[in-house]
Amino acid sequence: MSRSRILFQCQSCGYASPKWLGKCPDCGEWNSFAEEERITKLKRQKTAEPVILTEISASTGARHSTDIKELDRTLGGGVVMGSVVLIGGDPGIGKSTLILQSLRGLAKLGKVLYVSGEESPEQIKIRAERLNIASDKIILLPETSLEGIISVAQDIDPQVIVIDSIQTVFSLDLPSAPGSVGQIRECSTKLMFFAKKYAIPLFIIGHVTKEGAIAGPKVLEHIVDTVLYFEGDKGHPFRILRAVKNRFGSTNEIGVFEMQESGLKEVDNPSQLFLSERPLNVPGSVVTVSLEGTRPLLVEIQALVSATNFGVPRRTALGVDYNRINLLIAVLDKRLGMHLGGMDIFVNVVGGLRIDEPAIDLGIIAAIASSFKNSVIDAGTFTFGEVGLSGEVRAISQADTRIKEAAKLGFRKGIVPTNNAGGRTGQDIEMIGVKNVEEAIEILFF
Ligand code: TYD
Ligand code: MG
Repeated sequence: MSRSRILFQCQSCGYASPKWLGKCPDCGEWNSFAEEERITKLKRQKTAEPVILTEISASTGARHSTDIKELDRTLGGGVVMGSVVLIGGDPGIGKSTLILQSLRGLAKLGKVLYVSGEESPEQIKIRAERLNIASDKIILLPETSLEGIISVAQDIDPQVIVIDSIQTVFSLDLPSAPGSVGQIRECSTKLMFFAKKYAIPLFIIGHVTKEGAIAGPKVLEHIVDTVLYFEGDKGHPFRILRAVKNRFGSTNEIGVFEMQESGLKEVDNPSQLFLSERPLNVPGSVVTVSLEGTRPLLVEIQALVSATNFGVPRRTALGVDYNRINLLIAVLDKRLGMHLGGMDIFVNVVGGLRIDEPAIDLGIIAAIASSFKNSVIDAGTFTFGEVGLSGEVRAISQADTRIKEAAKLGFRKGIVPTNNAGGRTGQDIEMIGVKNVEEAIEILFF
């Protein structure tokens, strides 16, 4: 009996099943199965040659600058020839803008093939004019069929390829619709083979689903070398480019941009930017230092504590983990006797940033306590430290880097974990070490 050529595949995680299912047993997504054609395994044609490690001549220095420092940094110091970079982000966040701006630098390599299935060449031209990008090396291709793209690429022999976006590309070999997991996997893999064969960088733009993952996420993230997420709050001009996977550099490196009339501007000193509109001498506001990759970032944390009008008190966390906030509220309640049970508590990291580092715990504690007590924290003071369940303040990594950054921006006093207070930073800054939250609160509010 011949096996059916059709199978059903979860569009969220790629799980395959011979029959349609309402709920994916792998990722738990509902109604995510779609028909895909079974790709029969190709017969093995040729075995690869085994090679001795020391005899491989790899040109590790083959990196090229995009002329955008923040993008280069996130890529690990420029784009590696033959690498595949996926840029994901919400629609309208600025992915096309970023890639178009990077072509100014990339066009120095030679011809760039910009494949756009979303915008017409005229639209791209108008945008390029606004961004002041003009180069006869940039070739636009409004094509969505994979076979068409590859054949054009073979003809014009580009040095860089950009696909905007992968969800619009489809292969004629597969019956499923563009954007389905099967299509995305097939198209990205074929494009990747092309890029590797000719050792040219390939940039793939990918849309993000409502849940915040790139459609067909696991499929794509495994295939590519580097995954960059472009994030930010649409209401704010700040955009953060974050490396979540990088075979050629460190992850968690970030690039900071500001969306302006004339495109994305790099932000050299993000700390200054994030603190620029800080209200001084207002309760509920405190400055803490987070570390993004290798960069210290000063951020303002705001908290608002107000009496609950009815029912269950609300806890809202923007830019920080919700469970973390609940944990810290419990610590405040138990260790400091602050009765927050009948209070609504809102915590926000200013500037649309998202921070997942425990180093900002003490900052959150300080902000909540400040709002609760309605007393101001001195504007020249910053604080950081991880807080444990028994209220102890634990040391965090790279304290010196953080303290230096704070000193650079004119902070005069730091309330930090005892084990972090002794470091020699060579800065004119008063460091006060605290062992637990009681001590911290006592010093912050005299
Ligand atoms: P875009 O790059 O099209 O987003 P994506 O490709 O991620 O969907 O960015 C679109 C947004 O950026 C749009 O809402 C307007 C804004 N923008 C500016 O503010 N200034 C500019 O110079 C450009 C080109 C776009
Ligand atoms: Mg776009």
